[in-house]
Amino acid sequence: MSSLAALKPRESFVPAIREDAIPLLEPELRRIAQMLDADAGIHLSMEKTSLVHSRLIKRLKMLKMDSFKKYCNFVDSPDGKTERREMLMSLTTNLTRFFREAHHFEHLVKEALPPLLERAKKGERIRIWSAGCSNGQEPYSIAAIILSLLPEANNYDIKILASDIDCHMIAHGNRGLYAESIIEKMPAELRTKHFELVDTPDGKMYEASHKMKSLISFRELNLNAPRWPMRGKFQIIFCRNVVIYFNLETQVVLWERFKQQLCGPGYLYIGHSERLTGPAVDLFENVATTTYQLTSLK
Ligand SMILES: C[S@@+](CC[C@H](N)C(=O)[O-])C[C@H]1O[C@@H](n2cnc3c(N)ncnc32)[C@H](O)[C@@H]1O
Repeated sequence: MSSLAALKPRESFVPAIREDAIPLLEPELRRIAQMLDADAGIHLSMEKTSLVHSRLIKRLKMLKMDSFKKYCNFVDSPDGKTERREMLMSLTTNLTRFFREAHHFEHLVKEALPPLLERAKKGERIRIWSAGCSNGQEPYSIAAIILSLLPEANNYDIKILASDIDCHMIAHGNRGLYAESIIEKMPAELRTKHFELVDTPDGKMYEASHKMKSLISFRELNLNAPRWPMRGKFQIIFCRNVVIYFNLETQVVLWERFKQQLCGPGYLYIGHSERLTGPAVDLFENVATTTYQLTSLK
């Protein structure tokens, strides 16, 4: 669906920043919104002029371009494919936190993981997907919980797929390095068990343990792509604080695709301000706060 159609009538264009030497005007903001919608399903509000301006002006300066019109023409051309991806990544929101929305991790510990880990011990394949994982704090939180319940988890067929559209986030997740200010919010016991203080060119950082890293595969993946590369299904899917940025049509399609990707009676964890919509609603039972269990295998 085109982003022009996606724009709600009440969304009026907030004028470009006039004092800036390179203003962002409404036609270019609409073109950017259209490209973001087409590529990632992300809905960009017309009220976000200053945010878009502040994030993209750096790209224009780097490319030595003096207008957003030239920038739009470039990213809309075959030569601008790589820059179009950079534009998309500059405009996504990567906010995340270790153990964000703690009730999901409590549910993992008490309900979802114990039976799955028992099955893993009997040789079954257990797969968990962190879809829209940002810089890895969500999948590392899941890995830490798995290792606290089953310290020898690496000996079994247990894997977490951590995917994001943003290759910079995937690279960060793969490195597994986090600043002290980020790590210190984690419970002390988990921090000392699963992270090691290391020297890096950027100063002292905490690095995720080898045990945690080897439970996770980080992959670049656009949830809005017509096909996903995974063949097997998942027992658990985390997709939190991602679809909130998508238009409604994209959300409805995505819930249905997650249902296809789950094996029953799998769990789907979504963000605090997200809701299941469309036909998928009847296929899941709401078993805890923003926690859904697949009930129908139709
Ligand atoms: C706000 S973060 C949420 C991170 C994590 N799930 C959490 O709740 O802490 C949203 C993430 O979704 C990713 N994202 C946005 N659109 C996407 C798409 N079409 N496909 C895959 N990931 C996408 C962004 O790059 C970003 O890292």
